[in-house]
Amino acid sequence: MTFRYRKIRITCRIRQINRGVAQFGLAHYLGVVGAVSSNLTTPNDPGCLKRGSPFFIRGMTMEKYIENARIIIEALPFIKEFNNKTIVIKYGGNAMEDPELKKKVILDVVLLKFIGIKIVLVHGGGPHITSLMEKLGKEAVFISGHRVTDSETMEITEMVLSGLINKEITSLINSSGGKAAGISGRDANLILAEKKDRKLGQVGSIVRINPEILLTLLDNGYIPVVSPVAAGEAGEAFNINADTAAGEIAVSLRASKLIYMTDIRGIYTDIGDKSTFLPTIDEAGIRKMIKDGAIDKGMLPKVNSAIKAINNGVEKVHIIDGTIEHSLILELLTSAGIGTEIVLR
Ligand SMILES: Nc1ncnc2c1ncn2[C@@H]1O[C@H](COP(=O)(O)OP(=O)(O)O)[C@@H](O)[C@H]1O
Ligand SMILES: [Mg+2]
Repeated sequence: MTFRYRKIRITCRIRQINRGVAQFGLAHYLGVVGAVSSNLTTPNDPGCLKRGSPFFIRGMTMEKYIENARIIIEALPFIKEFNNKTIVIKYGGNAMEDPELKKKVILDVVLLKFIGIKIVLVHGGGPHITSLMEKLGKEAVFISGHRVTDSETMEITEMVLSGLINKEITSLINSSGGKAAGISGRDANLILAEKKDRKLGQVGSIVRINPEILLTLLDNGYIPVVSPVAAGEAGEAFNINADTAAGEIAVSLRASKLIYMTDIRGIYTDIGDKSTFLPTIDEAGIRKMIKDGAIDKGMLPKVNSAIKAINNGVEKVHIIDGTIEHSLILELLTSAGIGTEIVLR
């Protein structure tokens, strides 16, 4: 009996709360409408909006709003072109270091997702691994650009990449209105690798990509965020190059575009001379530059993966400067065409 009485009281309380929420909703809506209409004023006659007269909304002229609308409409051909297409982005360099820039990159990614692009983000994080190793009193050793990865270094690498960095990017996307799921190459055997060279320890070369987990996430509206740690046949962890991982993933998904976001405008014939910037370069050009030693260090895995990608079904590959504000939007939704595009011939 008491229980029934209590149940009725609880039901009544819920109804009251619901009514309250509905009233609040209506009041809030009217408040917003009121605020907007009270901001619609003419310069000489505040509060009174006359047809055809210049007026301001929240301090901005209607012309400015129309200009904003025009800018959005200008993106329409690009939005149509990429709707439902898959784009793989390698996120690295300074764009990942500067917190303010990082927030902007994340917003770009969320916006691109909401206009219907299927995005896969592959991140790097080498400098963070080196800095944690230093804190732990461990020296980072490199042989021809590869981090010598003993078992302790592999543990640190996995903690930094799949733990710290991967979860930070994933959470940033989620708290910015997107839906991201952070995984490493070990999840669902996404990236299978084998030992590259005994001297390098747990540095792996990619053997195979199993893209099922990515397809499942993409088909359900998630942005997969991938950390470049791979699984060996026996389940062991391998440290793999993030540029190579992004390239192989793009091939496995037959992505429309592969974008390398880095800390430089793109490829230069002579890195010391800014006038030698190359807006496009083909496979033969890249091979010659590598032979001449004009492309080296961190640019090497990018161009090698880019060549492999365009020869294996990826339509376009770009190297862009992630330190330019909203570089992804500029590259994808405007005709600005920043960075270097790598073409077949
Ligand atoms: N020809 C070249 N043009 C542009 N950058 C080059 C070239 N050759 C080597 N690089 C180097 O590649 C670097 C980008 O790779 P990297 O430092 O590994 O960045 P990320 O963290 O984005 O992978 C550039 O900062 C530059 O020093
Ligand atoms: Mg690099």
